Amino acid sequence: MKRAVYPGSFDPITNGHIDIIRRSVKLFDELIVAVLVNPAKSPLFTVEERMELIKESLNDLPNVKVDSFTGLLVHYVSGVKANVIIRGLRAVSDFETEFQMALMNKRLNSDVEIVFLMTSYEYSYLSSGVIKEVFGLGGDVTGLVPECVEAKLLEKMRRK
Ligand code: PNS
Repeated sequence: MKRAVYPGSFDPITNGHIDIIRRSVKLFDELIVAVLVNPAKSPLFTVEERMELIKESLNDLPNVKVDSFTGLLVHYVSGVKANVIIRGLRAVSDFETEFQMALMNKRLNSDVEIVFLMTSYEYSYLSSGVIKEVFGLGGDVTGLVPECVEAKLLEKMRRK
């Protein structure tokens, strides 16, 4: 079975992430969307909330599993018997960080391959951070995040 891991913070999941997931799931038998538990960060959504929003957004895809992880990504990847990490690339600005992470992950575990999918043009400017900022300041994010995420943003940020 070809199993891949799509890791990230997903705080919250956006339609850009969904696009990467829907495209990469076609390439593997199983895709695990793995949410990083990072005690050093203070996310808007708890890990449980983030996982629930991902599950709700992808409930039509039986070969997508949602999980969380702590520590090194490569340890998690080998623990679930996968050897591919999926990452999305939006712009040139993503390249430097992604290149650094990919090389470090490869050094930590040479059996792991990192596969990059270029973002679809319509989502190339999206990030979870931009969504939270725009929504928090009263902007419309319809069509940029799944409906369940928009509803949860409304609940969290108590916007009228
Ligand atoms: O959605 P993000 O925040 O861009 O995802 C970053 C993520 C979770 C992929 C990255 O921070 C990560 O893999 N963290 C786990 C710690 C780790 O393995 N670090 C070494 C890689 S250089």
